[in-house]
Amino acid sequence: MDGNGRWASERGLPRRDGHRAGADSVGACVEACGDLGVEFLTLYAFSSENWKRPKAEVEALMRLLEAFLKEKTGEMKEKNVRLQAIGRLDLLPASCQKRLHRAIEETSENTGLTLVLALSYGSREEIIDGIKSVVRAVREGHIDEAMIDPDLFSKHLYTRYYPDPDLLIRTSGEMRISNFLLWQISYAEIYITKKLWPDFRHDDLKEAVADYQRRHRRYGGL
Ligand code: FPP
Repeated sequence: MDGNGRWASERGLPRRDGHRAGADSVGACVEACGDLGVEFLTLYAFSSENWKRPKAEVEALMRLLEAFLKEKTGEMKEKNVRLQAIGRLDLLPASCQKRLHRAIEETSENTGLTLVLALSYGSREEIIDGIKSVVRAVREGHIDEAMIDPDLFSKHLYTRYYPDPDLLIRTSGEMRISNFLLWQISYAEIYITKKLWPDFRHDDLKEAVADYQRRHRRYGGL
């Protein structure tokens, strides 16, 4: 969800206002996914590297996340959205963790869109955690080394309950992956738009999906 800072500076506003407008785009895209019947939407809301930002910005983002969860949990329940999260959630402020776990719990029975928030998330860290988990399973005798293959490894990642993404959308024209779902996106279609995240709303999400539908996926075959 890139471009919040640029959106704010174009308007002479503080960066936190860009993040606030970005939170409105989250609501719009969740709605659009519901309309389209998308089953899983993963949003890169805060990376492991984002902890390096100035303290005031990190705090503003955590407050925004907490307010979003407080405000939207009821709506998610109503709209059949199941909230999930991936990342080092234990590093989030305690009040944020509490709010997050409550929202996850309260929406756990929902059967519509699964909204996965990537928080304090880094793909390399996830892969290292996955390797440690596989090593443990071998050492404890639950699996044999010969059984390790891509499917088995996928089951040791934070994303083990979700399918690999079909479509990766990056806003603000950046041509980078930025440590996001590196293992899982091996065959994802990539859609890059110059729009800044706070300007990315219903119609933009629908256009990205329409673009995806025009692609011919070959998975290395013909
Ligand atoms: C990247 O833009 C954006 C972030 C680091 C934060 C994303 C967070 C939100 C959209 C709001 C909170 C999330 C939820 C789920 C309510 P940037 O700050 O790097 O922008 P820039 O590249 O223009 O500086």
